[in-house]
Amino acid sequence: MRHPPGQEDGVVQWDPDLYERYRLLRERPGRDLLNAIPEVTVRSAIDLGCGTGYLTRQLVNRFAGAHIIGLDSDDAMLAKAAAVPSRIDWQQADIGDWCPSEPVDLIFSNAALHWLPDHTTLFRRLVGFGAPGGLLAVQMPDNFAAPSHLLLKELTQREPWRDSLSGALDHSAVLAAADYWRILRPYCQTVDIWYGDYLQVLEGDDPVLDWVSATALLPVIAHLPPTQAADFTQSYRLALRKAYPKEKEGSTLFPFRRIFILARI
Ligand SMILES: C[S@@+](CC[C@H](N)C(=O)[O-])C[C@H]1O[C@@H](n2cnc3c(N)ncnc32)[C@H](O)[C@@H]1O
Repeated sequence: MRHPPGQEDGVVQWDPDLYERYRLLRERPGRDLLNAIPEVTVRSAIDLGCGTGYLTRQLVNRFAGAHIIGLDSDDAMLAKAAAVPSRIDWQQADIGDWCPSEPVDLIFSNAALHWLPDHTTLFRRLVGFGAPGGLLAVQMPDNFAAPSHLLLKELTQREPWRDSLSGALDHSAVLAAADYWRILRPYCQTVDIWYGDYLQVLEGDDPVLDWVSATALLPVIAHLPPTQAADFTQSYRLALRKAYPKEKEGSTLFPFRRIFILARI
């Protein structure tokens, strides 16, 4: 349920149009994950945290005849996804509560699982829902040591925001590659994990702020009343301008690291 502006309640509310402003850059690691999926028979697939559904639609193109579910908890993201006619079964639910009635051939998730805590339990649970021979294919941001995320975290610990924002950000969910290997290997035939470093070239006056406003900044905005949220955003804007100065020709470089996990169950 959306809440009226000004009633901060800690619930992250996604803005599909803002999120899609950098659609091509956000889509690219998802396509890289899809391209890494080997030729396998897929009768059922789920896209966990499908957002506006552009990768879910790619799953439909790739796996003709499969039953494909796009699952997300956010009503605005799902509404945008469902506005495009398709045979995808859109479902509104929390990934943490998802429990399929039958084993699934492909469990796919792009840029979503880092929003959930306790990856040891989560990843064990997810592979437990996979069919024998099926695949778990996951991509998550692993950019939490970048200035964009460190500055954000640091600002949440300053006055006057500290009390309201205590516990609002969790930048510790994503584990090291070796940890995911150890978690998954007992349940999987193969576990392939790699990183991708994307040198993102952004345009505009505050492009890094625009980028994170659609994602990492959302939990902060969800915990602050509007005037405090505006002050916080302004302080963050100034810090980001220093950390990510424009190049001579006007672009801003925003390197972004991502982790990829492809496990055969
Ligand atoms: C960064 S977007 C990624 C969307 C899409 N997978 C893509 O690659 O464009 C993250 C999505 O995960 C969803 N999400 C985050 N936490 C979730 C949860 N616990 N359960 C279901 N969906 C969740 C959000 O609503 C959002 O649509």
